[in-house]
Amino acid sequence: MKFTVKNGGVLKGNIRVPGDKSISHRSIMFGSIAEGTSHISGFLEGEDSLNTLRAFRAMGVEIEGPEDGKVVVHGVGMQGLKKPEHALDVGNSGTSMRLLAGLFSGLSFDVELKGDASLSKRPMARVTNPLAEMGAVVETAAEGRPPLKISGGHQLHGINYEMPMASAQVKSCCLLAGLYAEGRTCVTEPAPTRDHTERMLTAFGVPVEVKGSTMCLEGPAKLTACDIDVPADISSSAFFMVGASIAKGSDITLEHVGINPTRTGVIDILKLMGADIELLNPREAGGEPVADIRIRSAKLKSAVIPEHLVPLAIDEFPVIFVAAACAEGETVITGAEELRVKECDRIQVMAEGLQALGVDARATDDGMVIRGGAIQSGTVHSHDDHRIAMAFSMAALCATGKIEIEDCDNVSTSFPSFVDLASSAGLSIELKANS
Ligand code: S3P
Repeated sequence: MKFTVKNGGVLKGNIRVPGDKSISHRSIMFGSIAEGTSHISGFLEGEDSLNTLRAFRAMGVEIEGPEDGKVVVHGVGMQGLKKPEHALDVGNSGTSMRLLAGLFSGLSFDVELKGDASLSKRPMARVTNPLAEMGAVVETAAEGRPPLKISGGHQLHGINYEMPMASAQVKSCCLLAGLYAEGRTCVTEPAPTRDHTERMLTAFGVPVEVKGSTMCLEGPAKLTACDIDVPADISSSAFFMVGASIAKGSDITLEHVGINPTRTGVIDILKLMGADIELLNPREAGGEPVADIRIRSAKLKSAVIPEHLVPLAIDEFPVIFVAAACAEGETVITGAEELRVKECDRIQVMAEGLQALGVDARATDDGMVIRGGAIQSGTVHSHDDHRIAMAFSMAALCATGKIEIEDCDNVSTSFPSFVDLASSAGLSIELKANS
């Protein structure tokens, strides 16, 4: 499918974007290996988190729903998972593959994890290396790519692992393997990354000790069922934060958004660029801070993005690049080389897309230099990457003509209701078959 987005328009009203993808994945994983029944609300019914849900169903876990974001997981305990009949296909979802690699390494039977064409190109040595140190036996395809063949029956032991990159997926993989390991598993991160695993494990009765940049837990562990209220995803909200900032006359409120400080880099970056963003009614839900977020249009200016904010906004760069393209002056992003190994090479694909729309954007090894100016009409490719498709949709709000975006089916991985919700807020977006 492709999106055709008419230029202009304003974003208005109150909307609630779907549930947080990272928290939705973890709620199914932890609910499945816990003892007792966990009730989840606000679950993201997107393809990625549904793939995690299907994987546990294939391993014998009884899971009711999702229905209207409600899921009931009847946990089977740490040793209750059953050998799946086939390889588990996690589609486009890197989070499923990397976290499940850790979780399944301590089981008594073999499991194979495979994915779609995009996931099959993504690096997995970053998780198989520490897992091997813990005593796991995981076979990959050439150059450490998927599929992953995890062989069962190996007793894991805790390690102290210094992560070479700032990655919540690698951290979580090690901690989840640590649940099955003998002794203490500690992971040290080079910069803060999202801490949903640490928070949610604690809620499921497994204390995670945090000392500076090191997180530790003791294995073997036991999880106790817990109810989870999944907040709206700040990563999905980011499209509307940028859209409302760049579309003159906009005033939109995003409800019940997760504002965990390890995820709010996008707010800090947009504020640095002069955005008018207000956090209303801050509160707690299910161990995570949430708020309603009001955004009014503002004249954006360029910024040199501080590198410490990069991991805290890692999924939001496609749309941050769009904000930079509408801002006055030259925006410089560095320290973001991880963007090259996401669902696509987000540096290359966004630079090419912006150039196709007449923007002066130059890809660098670890980021981009963007000179803000008029965005022209044109056609871009999402390269099957959900966040690229949604970012370019928002670009139309400050473009001089319509924007067409090809290959948009993957938007359903994280935001299945995007077209309807964006239309209801004021974006003139239509879904058509690819030409
Ligand atoms: C995620 C961590 C991030 C992020 C991904 C979800 C998670 O990946 O890009 O969309 O849920 O842990 P990295 O940890 O590899 O940066």
